[in-house]
Amino acid sequence: MDDRVTITLNVNGEDRRVAVGRRWTLLYVLRDVLDLTGTKYGCGTGDCGACKVLIDGEPVNSCTYLATRAEGKAIVTIEGLARGDRLSPVQQAFVDAGAIQCGFCTPGMVITATALLHRNPNPSREEIVRALDNNLCRCTGYVKIIEAIELAARRLRGEA
Ligand code: FES
Ligand code: FES
Repeated sequence: MDDRVTITLNVNGEDRRVAVGRRWTLLYVLRDVLDLTGTKYGCGTGDCGACKVLIDGEPVNSCTYLATRAEGKAIVTIEGLARGDRLSPVQQAFVDAGAIQCGFCTPGMVITATALLHRNPNPSREEIVRALDNNLCRCTGYVKIIEAIELAARRLRGEA
């Protein structure tokens, strides 16, 4: 039996009408229905953070979030952070600090960092580490990522 329902998802400021299965995850809909493949599929179990998107400003693992639950909420994916060719301050800081190796974790890291700096423009190193608790990176050893977030914070505060 086809249990699809048609819902409206607000993704990166645009309303998108999509027919989804009741058990489809938001990650599946973003990547495989809407073709927004910047959000990554890592573990599928809520452990790695590669699939993070912002939902009403909060970083959420989209692999464990039902698409139907996201109706009526503002979803922002990594594709929604840049303005045309201009990277967001957090994205640019990741590039400038050399915080990207294979890049698989990067979209999730940038989403988490964006939310952190929005609620706390001047986080301590400990607060950054705590915010990244649910974002795994197998390449960088995290040091460059933390430096990138500190750089983005300084720039956003007009100090760099
Ligand atoms: Fe969602 Fe790993 S893919 S947390
Ligand atoms: Fe490869 Fe983080 S840069 S997983």
